[in-house]
Amino acid sequence: MKKWIITLMGIVILGIVSLFVFVESRWDRTYDFPYPEITHSLDSTVIERGKYLVYGPAHCASCHINIDDYESMEAGELIPLRGGEVFNLNYGVVVSYNLTPDVETGIGGFTDGEIARAMREAVGHDGRILPNFMPFKLMTDEDVVAVISFLRSQKPVKNPIPKPVYNWSGKWKISTGKIRPRIIHGTTLPSIKREATIEYGNYLVNNVANCVGCHSMATVEYGEKKYRFGPLSGGVIFGGNNVNNTRYVTPNLTPEKQTGMIANWDEDTFVARFRQGRVYETSPMPWGSFARMDEVDIRAIYRYLKSIKPIANKIEKTVYQPGEEIEGS
Ligand code: HEC
Ligand code: HEC
Repeated sequence: MKKWIITLMGIVILGIVSLFVFVESRWDRTYDFPYPEITHSLDSTVIERGKYLVYGPAHCASCHINIDDYESMEAGELIPLRGGEVFNLNYGVVVSYNLTPDVETGIGGFTDGEIARAMREAVGHDGRILPNFMPFKLMTDEDVVAVISFLRSQKPVKNPIPKPVYNWSGKWKISTGKIRPRIIHGTTLPSIKREATIEYGNYLVNNVANCVGCHSMATVEYGEKKYRFGPLSGGVIFGGNNVNNTRYVTPNLTPEKQTGMIANWDEDTFVARFRQGRVYETSPMPWGSFARMDEVDIRAIYRYLKSIKPIANKIEKTVYQPGEEIEGS
């Protein structure tokens, strides 16, 4: 009997130790994926397009600034992208990077390929995995070039950013591939005409503005998403921008007549809502960046959202005060 217990304990201890060794040896592994063939340009029209994307639909500016600059950024100022916004996640703490061309603390020392790979495949300049914040896997080559060209045209700002700190859960997710790169190397992505079409709206919603990331219940956190109720049908719960305990639930954006929030909005109402910008101070939706989108983009988004499959998913309301129980969760 005693022998049995000792053997059993030995097996359990061995199991725990090997699990520990497995996770510790794998969580900070690096990926040596090839770099996308992207070269920045000095053309002022290209740089202007990049600036529009960065402060508008691609909303890099909503994350790559310091939280103290948030209000001025949302009010329309072109705050330098010096980084420093802290994200407290359930799997660790990550801080947005300094995207100004400072050589020591920013992107000044990165190649175009390194920046493009970070945007597309979530692999950092040093080969480590980046959190699932930058879903630009299918951003066109033209737009990736524009973004990088703009980033390179900024004034350098010195602002050292700490490396991410993953807790056990984060390390576990990385080791087991739950958090993993989005592989797309060797692909060139052709340009899409910028006009108020369903096609261009599809591109913005899914590959630039990430409406799909926040307005869909996903079953996996990383890589290819599988949706619980189908894309864009809402229901994702967010804490308010780390400030207080107000919580938000994303509305259903599909054209389902009963439960889709915008199903009965006409196009001008939709445009006006985006022009209005933020209503709730701590909503995680980057309203400040989106309010800068031009009308063509907003109309394209509307037309695309009207064209997708209607999904019935009733969202009782989108804002919950501290202590209030979220309905239907
Ligand atoms: C939702 C927030 C968010 C958005 C939007 C966002 N980023 Fe980031 N980005 C981050 C965070 C957080 C990090 C730091 C990750 C880390 O250190 O692991 C980061 C890191 C980076 C890095 C550094 C990668 C490296 O090699 O270490 C680059 C380059 C970058 N982002 C570019 C962009 C660009 C360009 C855009 C817009 C097209 C953008 N990001 C939009 C949050 C965001
Ligand atoms: C970072 C997450 C996030 C992203 C990205 C995001 N949303 Fe939202 N959205 C929310 C949350 C949370 C709410 C509810 C709180 C609020 O209204 O601000 C919301 C609310 C809305 C509303 C309802 C506004 C109202 O008047 O009640 C619309 C419409 C909407 N989003 C459309 C979009 C579209 C279109 C995109 C892409 C261009 C998008 N969202 C991107 C999180 C997000």
